[in-house]
Amino acid sequence: MDRKNFYITSPIYYVNDVPHIGHAYTSIACDVQARFRRLQGDKVRFLTGTDEHGQKVEKSALARQKTPQEFCDEVSTKFRQLAQILGLSHDDFIRTTEDRHIKSAQEMWRRLEKRGFIYKDVYEGWYAVRDEAFYAQDELVDGKAPTGAEVAWHKEESYFFKLSAFQDKLLMLYEAAPDFVQPQSKMNEVLAFVKSGLRDLSISRNSFKWGVAVPNDANHIMYVWLDALTNYISALGFPDENSSLYQNFWCNTHDSPVHIVGKDILRFHAIYWPAFLMAADLPLPNKIYAHGWWTNQGQKISKSVGNVIDPLQEIEWLKSLGCSQEVAVDYFKYFLMREVPFGNDGDYSRNNFINRINAELANNIGNLVQRSLSMIYKNNNGEIVDIKGFEDGQNLLKNGYQLQNKLIEKLEKFAYDQAIFKIINFASLCNQFINDKAPWVLKKENKIEEMNLVLSTIAEALRLIAVSLQIFLPNLSTKILDFLRIDTNLRQIKNIDQAFCLKVSSQILEPKIIFVRLENNIN
Ligand code: MSP
Repeated sequence: MDRKNFYITSPIYYVNDVPHIGHAYTSIACDVQARFRRLQGDKVRFLTGTDEHGQKVEKSALARQKTPQEFCDEVSTKFRQLAQILGLSHDDFIRTTEDRHIKSAQEMWRRLEKRGFIYKDVYEGWYAVRDEAFYAQDELVDGKAPTGAEVAWHKEESYFFKLSAFQDKLLMLYEAAPDFVQPQSKMNEVLAFVKSGLRDLSISRNSFKWGVAVPNDANHIMYVWLDALTNYISALGFPDENSSLYQNFWCNTHDSPVHIVGKDILRFHAIYWPAFLMAADLPLPNKIYAHGWWTNQGQKISKSVGNVIDPLQEIEWLKSLGCSQEVAVDYFKYFLMREVPFGNDGDYSRNNFINRINAELANNIGNLVQRSLSMIYKNNNGEIVDIKGFEDGQNLLKNGYQLQNKLIEKLEKFAYDQAIFKIINFASLCNQFINDKAPWVLKKENKIEEMNLVLSTIAEALRLIAVSLQIFLPNLSTKILDFLRIDTNLRQIKNIDQAFCLKVSSQILEPKIIFVRLENNIN
């Protein structure tokens, strides 16, 4: 089978402030997709990084009496550390202050200019520093940006990009690729916006300095979004279009490039970015997926309310409940992917966290793992028996052998919560099976052969569960696969097949408790 090239990117994060749950969420969603594709045998490239230019970052640096570069170095490191703590499987981390990116962004500018899509004029209108976005008068709501950000009136000389020339081309793109933006509701919003008419876009600033210099005009820096969006190709070696990364992951990809973004930055990705690329005569991404927003116990997360959720603090909280670092990280990622259908808004609450983890992981999968593996280990010398002729067992396992197709169906649509549900559902069937067959009773009744058949069936089921769970719980599932002594090359999802079933007489290792039950210590 040909290995397909799959490129996935998270947004690059503004370094005006330290990372929070929203940043962790987007990155984890990319990580899960990247892991899924790798386990399918695809060649995957997953990019994340930091967005370091613009007025917002410059202001934050000045407020802390630092140079913008010093400040960026400091905060960018925090994002890098978060990615490492979360065990993200990114292949590259780009910073927009790196030379490779500056070169690439300037080349993007030159191409737009050379092809006649840039002109100089005066920008007069509203600008929200928080969003780094321009707004027209009729977009304001109660004197603020539609996002709630404060706006200020700007008048300055600026270069413009002829976005208006791309209205029809964008509409043709959306028509030809109706799932270019996902979920569908978001595609509809984008369509409505483009149909309502596109104005040319101001793409340079000259009232501050912290940005990529406009080629051949030292008075201007590039608008931070034109700069930032280009990161997705800078990291592949652009402007060297012959670079193998660029060829493999921008030009000859399958089902990708995919940009995962929060709904607040969809417009930039679904409208401006394809327009810039078309104008520069470069290939387009395959899909933009816009996810929803987390609230904290029903309230919008914001620094001024003081309810920002810090992922590192949540991991510490889980550790205080008895989890190891590895378990805490897996639980955190699991909860974010499982609690809310991807694309919807969701509410973060520690109570829901505890209930979800206990019900689905500790009490369901954890219980299945612990009780069955310890019984297998203590009987028949820990060895697997031949279950081919065991009809009841095969009937159960049929559901597990279908997992691969079910995961593909759900994960290709980014339905993370439903993909997890398929695995949980199979684990529930296994728990039901073990309850009905009661191997502990079979043992008492000295029906040893039947007991071994039941236990080996569960061992095989655990292989299927653990291989699938690697997408979401890489640390915990590795432990199960290690107990079962599954070869590394057999841990791919494409090997969830009857043909790869556990070998007769293979011996499992002594299992240890791995799924921690969370006790509710919340007042
Ligand atoms: N720098 C730009 C992106 C440039 S991409 C070329 C940016 N950065 S950001 O740091 O403000 O936001 C990054 C991501 O975090 C966005 O996808 C945003 O939607 C997400 N989140 C920020 N707060 C969030 C929540 N409360 N919940 C979920 N995600 C949210 O925008």
